[in-house]
Amino acid sequence: MYEQVSHSLLNAILDDLKPEISRQDLRHFYTRLGANFYAIYSLFFNLYGQRKDFKPQMQRLVETMAKGYINRPAELERVDIERELDHNWFLSQKWVGMALYTNGFAENLDDLADKTPYFQELGINMVHIMPILMCPAGKSDGGYAISDFRKIDDRLGDLNDLRRVAEEFRKRDILLVLDIVLNHTSDEHEWAKKAVMGERRYQDYYFMFDNREIPDMFEQSMPDIFPESAPGNFTWNADMQKWVMTVFHNYQWDLNYSNPEVFIEMIDIILFWANQGVDVLRLDAVAFLWKKIGSSCQNERNAHLILQLMKDCCQVSAPGVLFIAEAIVAPVEVIKYFGEDAIIAKECEIAYNATLMALLWDGIATKNAKLLYQGLKNLPDKLERATWLNYVRCHDDIGFGFDDNDVLAAGYEPYTHRKYLVDYFSGQFEGSPARGMVFMLNDATGDARICGSLASLAGLEAAAESGDPDLISAAVNKILLLHSVILSFGGIPLLYNGDALGVVNDYSYRDDDSKNSDNRWIHRPKINWERAELRKKQGTVEYSLFSALKKMIAIRKETSAFADFNNRELLDVDNEHLLCFTRFNYLRPSERVLVIANFDANPQYLDLDVISGRGINLYGQFVDLYSGRSPAQYDRRIVLQGYQFYWLTEI
Ligand code: GLC
Repeated sequence: MYEQVSHSLLNAILDDLKPEISRQDLRHFYTRLGANFYAIYSLFFNLYGQRKDFKPQMQRLVETMAKGYINRPAELERVDIERELDHNWFLSQKWVGMALYTNGFAENLDDLADKTPYFQELGINMVHIMPILMCPAGKSDGGYAISDFRKIDDRLGDLNDLRRVAEEFRKRDILLVLDIVLNHTSDEHEWAKKAVMGERRYQDYYFMFDNREIPDMFEQSMPDIFPESAPGNFTWNADMQKWVMTVFHNYQWDLNYSNPEVFIEMIDIILFWANQGVDVLRLDAVAFLWKKIGSSCQNERNAHLILQLMKDCCQVSAPGVLFIAEAIVAPVEVIKYFGEDAIIAKECEIAYNATLMALLWDGIATKNAKLLYQGLKNLPDKLERATWLNYVRCHDDIGFGFDDNDVLAAGYEPYTHRKYLVDYFSGQFEGSPARGMVFMLNDATGDARICGSLASLAGLEAAAESGDPDLISAAVNKILLLHSVILSFGGIPLLYNGDALGVVNDYSYRDDDSKNSDNRWIHRPKINWERAELRKKQGTVEYSLFSALKKMIAIRKETSAFADFNNRELLDVDNEHLLCFTRFNYLRPSERVLVIANFDANPQYLDLDVISGRGINLYGQFVDLYSGRSPAQYDRRIVLQGYQFYWLTEI
């Protein structure tokens, strides 16, 4: 769109470009900048238009984008163009992800590059390497307290090692995902250090106050994120004699996005990593980007404007790069991180589906799908060109942030039900096989979250200790059941390091002073590769899990109905233990897959009468894509064993 004010500003900016920029061949850059400029200008003006230095800041922003474009390697520009031509590429069912810490999966980045065959063996083709940048020892928040946004932690390697990983991945068609920690820096970041030295420019990068007056106002409506280990949202800095906003830990200083310099610095960092060959950037803690007195300081409208602006800028310089929103917030809020638009994601193309994750765990604890069904029924529709990241476990805790109305509609009282879940997963509920830990109990609100590895939460740790084969097989089946849903739901499934091998809790963090106040370390394991060899030995748990997941992944990739084109229909099946939905091929809707997951330990049946007319033929013959067999069926009922799932097609 041509708009006079913004485009005459653009002309002026281009006239004033530094000679080292204007001399370059900027053909694609100009086309994309022209196309996006009105949006970029409007957003930047909306956020920073009231400032006297608006125009020079706009100039700097354009120069930063131009520099990002100029530094983009030719090979990556080729990928950009390829993806521009096939803009739905990431909605395909072919993608399957895994998240891991470099030193949990391998020794370092170099070793990780050597271990890429493992991903191919399982079928993983998108790897989220958790934060690898410099963090102060003992104050790292698992890599999310960064002291240098451009330097890799020496213990993991250097930029050359990362480039090797990126090349190795690109050769094998594996996408590389890295984090951009947008919301805060470590208190040892150069900007923070300069602020402490009294440099006003850098003090303006953060939120700082001489006394408690404003902090106290903020506190009235801001929740505590880590109430046990880091209560409050401000930290006193004695050197500066100021209160600093620290929403997460007291060593993580929140960046102030009402300052355009912060925004431009972060765009520069985003483009720097995009140019190292990163395909997808996981934007950490995006809900927190804008702070406003009187609000919870989460999900603010301006946080969305910042993300839209980031997307628009990135599309100019590195359009092939996607964003993942890490916003672990209420379902109606999560959906907004795609950007409110008719079709195209205007903010992040991908978002963590924390709603599905928490609901799946509810299914495990209650052995029924009542809340799961209810929550999914009310999960707002996402945009067409956007997709979910569906996961069961990740490096963080599990919060039971369901919508209270859904909890009530499922027949539970919200407070008691959440308490039940916490008790169940921390093994405090009589008969529960789960071995999780309570995380961040908030005495004031009674809220608590859960930590623990997938295997331990599903009962495998306890079952293995008992040696009871039935208990072991129930735990294995639960793990597969959960994956059967994330692999078929629609979106990119994201497995977590160790889960395909049944790795249980790692209690060693308790002996490490830098970790023992944060029990999320219990589920950040180090793979024992000798033990992992058991995945090749029939009869072992490792084999059962690994071979089943490998098979499920291979089948997913072949099943076009599993691509994500808003082609899912949730079915109300009259049996509270079953989650049931159909997936259909959006080009040929008659090609359907009926997904049924039994959350009960006992056999259950699905009455075909109840779902007939929903694209399912009452008298049809089915075959299970997973086992290749017809399901047990009698009297127009399909029977499932405890914790069994089916991916059925009609024959
Ligand atoms: C994200 C990360 C989490 C971290 C937090 C603060 O939520 O996933 O591990 O503690 O951001 O950076």
